[in-house]
Amino acid sequence: MNYAMAGKVALVTGAGSGIGRATALAFAKSEARVVVSDVNETGGAETVALIEAGGGTALFQRCDVSKADDVKALVARTVEAYGRLDYAHNNAGVNSMTRSEWDDEVWAWAIGINLTGVMLCMREQIPAMLAGGGGAIVNTSSINGLTGNPSQPAYVASKHGVIGLTRMAALKHARDNIRVNAVCPGVIETAMTAAVAARPEIKAIMENMTPMGRMGRPEEIANAVVWLCSDQASFVTGHPMVIDGGAVAG
Ligand SMILES: NC(=O)c1ccc[n+]([C@@H]2O[C@H](COP(=O)([O-])OP(=O)(O)OC[C@H]3O[C@@H](n4cnc5c(N)ncnc54)[C@H](O)[C@@H]3O)[C@@H](O)[C@H]2O)c1
Repeated sequence: MNYAMAGKVALVTGAGSGIGRATALAFAKSEARVVVSDVNETGGAETVALIEAGGGTALFQRCDVSKADDVKALVARTVEAYGRLDYAHNNAGVNSMTRSEWDDEVWAWAIGINLTGVMLCMREQIPAMLAGGGGAIVNTSSINGLTGNPSQPAYVASKHGVIGLTRMAALKHARDNIRVNAVCPGVIETAMTAAVAARPEIKAIMENMTPMGRMGRPEEIANAVVWLCSDQASFVTGHPMVIDGGAVAG
């Protein structure tokens, strides 16, 4: 789908893999210039190469979203290279599934990336968008941002926090031509779920958790992100959009 974003600039964090890569490619398909950002330089370079192979324009900037200086440099580079910032997908995230549940270090790590990272990104992105007359932001939460989960306290808390931050920023900038929404993916086939999905019995459990009986694809989240940023969603703000094959409906 081409949402006619020629002349616009989109920034995606965690774009070296999975959902972020799919969103970066989807923005490029709508003709936006794309800033691909990640801590994974190899993955980021691959995403840029995929965009360029499709005739799009992109650059890579390494950024650890939990570090204020990195985020500041990321937005500065975006404006320096492309002159403006119109859309942002704050998507970088980590899952603490394989780590000890109540550990201080795990808590600080996951909250630092999943929640503080989104705050740091919006803090830099919003002034850049205001300077250009407006924009749209989509933050990646999760169905774990809306419902509980008996494990992963930091992941669940961070994803609930992302929805709170999204609503706060949407209200603060509702009259500034900046819309702020979130996506809440269900179980999606990416590197994040690959380790557990590699075991067929666990994959079957994950598929059966979803009423549609399958895991989602990264493109199914990317489609929603680009639509939320597009003019087609011009009256949508503060919304946590669930894309989960029916999981939360049950
Ligand atoms: N896959 C799922 O089932 C699922 C479900 C709900 C929500 N999500 C969320 O979607 C987002 C994307 O995850 P994914 O499934 O595509 O996983 P993924 O592991 O494929 O992608 C995550 C990307 O974030 C990057 N990243 C990690 N720490 C970073 C940091 N400090 N700074 C910058 N980049 C960093 C990784 O290098 C990676 O490229 C995450 O926020 C995740 O919590 C995923």
